[in-house]
Amino acid sequence: MKEKIEQLKKLKEQAKLGGGKAKIKIQHDKGKLTARERIELLVDEGSFDEIDMFVKHRSKDFGLDKQIYPGDGVVTGFAKIDCRPIALFSQDFTVFGGSLSETHAEKIVKIMKMAMKNGIPVIGLNDSGGARIQEGVSSLAGYADIFLLNTLASGVIPQISVILGPCAGGAVYSPAITDFIFMVKNTSYMFVTGPNVVKTVTNEDVSLEELGGAETHASKSGIAHFIYENEIETLLNVRKLLSFLPLNYRDKSPELKFNQSEIKPEPKLDNIIPDNPSKPYDMRKIINLLVDDNDFFEVHKNYAENILCGFSRIGGMAIGIIANQPAVLAGVLDINASVKAGRFVRFCDCFGIPLLVLEDVPGFLPGTEQEWNGIIRHGAKLLFAFCEATVPKITVIIRKAYGGAYDVMNSKHVRGDFNYAWPSAEIAVMGPKGAVEIIFKKEISKSKDPKKELEKKLKEFKKRFANPYITAERGFVDDIILPSETRGKLINAFNLLRTKVDINPKKKHANIPL
Ligand code: HXC
Repeated sequence: MKEKIEQLKKLKEQAKLGGGKAKIKIQHDKGKLTARERIELLVDEGSFDEIDMFVKHRSKDFGLDKQIYPGDGVVTGFAKIDCRPIALFSQDFTVFGGSLSETHAEKIVKIMKMAMKNGIPVIGLNDSGGARIQEGVSSLAGYADIFLLNTLASGVIPQISVILGPCAGGAVYSPAITDFIFMVKNTSYMFVTGPNVVKTVTNEDVSLEELGGAETHASKSGIAHFIYENEIETLLNVRKLLSFLPLNYRDKSPELKFNQSEIKPEPKLDNIIPDNPSKPYDMRKIINLLVDDNDFFEVHKNYAENILCGFSRIGGMAIGIIANQPAVLAGVLDINASVKAGRFVRFCDCFGIPLLVLEDVPGFLPGTEQEWNGIIRHGAKLLFAFCEATVPKITVIIRKAYGGAYDVMNSKHVRGDFNYAWPSAEIAVMGPKGAVEIIFKKEISKSKDPKKELEKKLKEFKKRFANPYITAERGFVDDIILPSETRGKLINAFNLLRTKVDINPKKKHANIPL
């Protein structure tokens, strides 16, 4: 027996070396960690239970039968993060560049199936040259098996993709189906075709980083939800994201202890809105004063910055926040903002995470660029997402709530549970100037002093509509509240909504305007 134990230990040590010491050195020289070092950083110490360490590929072509590495380029298993279970895979670039073979795919599929059965999140650490070229269609089939499971698992368990190296060709579609993508500056990149193919087909000269690097995907395409300077920071933030999420759609997000007696008014909020309604301010300041410990974990921080989305806690309870950002484009809703927030709302709704909306929106962005690129369809995504969501939903109208955007941003009419307004709220079909110019066009043009007449009408209009009182008269906002008492109101409201049950009509699935 002693001999057999020694043999097993030796085989495991061998498997742990992946492609060998020389390849590990190349990986380190590129500023990248190995598949196993990444796992160690990601999960609770000593919690990783590996499976399928002895799996080998079955290919014989191109001399592959002479190149066998136990584990076949991916480390898979189960571990804990903050004492909660997760499933994970970590691609090993030292073995055939982390490329995906038939058996490599089978290992990933196996942990995904286990994760779905047991209701635990899947985290994929991606570092791969894509389909293993020598295996041809077998590796393409392996990708398709993963895509199918990504799709079936969507909304059942959270799926997180961490890109820590190349991710090219069709391989990008597995992360794209998952809920969140993390990237690392300067070492990870994603694209459907690389710079050389781009040059051949479109004659564009573009660098790897510019085409599909972390900063490109965080700011231009919106593919990356989170980017960080290095792998360590990235992996620590994967842990942080998980701290807000339930294990599956039937579970609840972890809640932190909170003492109701700790609720105090926040006088700074009473002075945060500028007197001039055209003046911008940073919505993040309001968020930080409303939530626990000023801690707002932003999703898509550098993309569509005119809307803010992210996770936080209020009274210990994890929530998702969607807030217009008046400091960027006056907080207007455009295509990218609608798509960003729409997907975030749907994620939170899948996993039972209550929603808080902070509203200061002058409307949808006008112009041919927006119209021709489909603001109608994309804006409808956000509307659809709010209408469909059955989680607790609270809105606070901070300042502007104009036009269709008033309806869209979780109004009472689309099943907002509690809709509050600050006294600074302005709720109308459109901004005062535009409105007055339309409805008093004749009076103004016929007047001896059109400028003075416009000012007079503007004053009348603002007095009548640029406030929250008419909306409150109709019961479309439930209360007009002091900014300083908002945090307490929200904690009470979210507590009341703990037992909320709301269901949508039975159907196969809805048809969101994609
Ligand atoms: C087999 C591969 C491989 C692959 C890399 N390797 N990619 N082996 N299949 N797809 C091997 C290399 O031969 C090399 O082996 C080792 O991995 C490291 O690769 P290097 O090229 O030395 O590394 P580096 O210079 O860092 O370049 C990494 C790279 C490059 C950018 C990923 O290897 C590359 O361009 N690979 C091909 C990428 C690609 O086009 N893949 C197909 C995408 S399409 P040795 O033995 O020398 O160490 C796709 C379809 C999916 O994936 C479709 C799903 C529907």
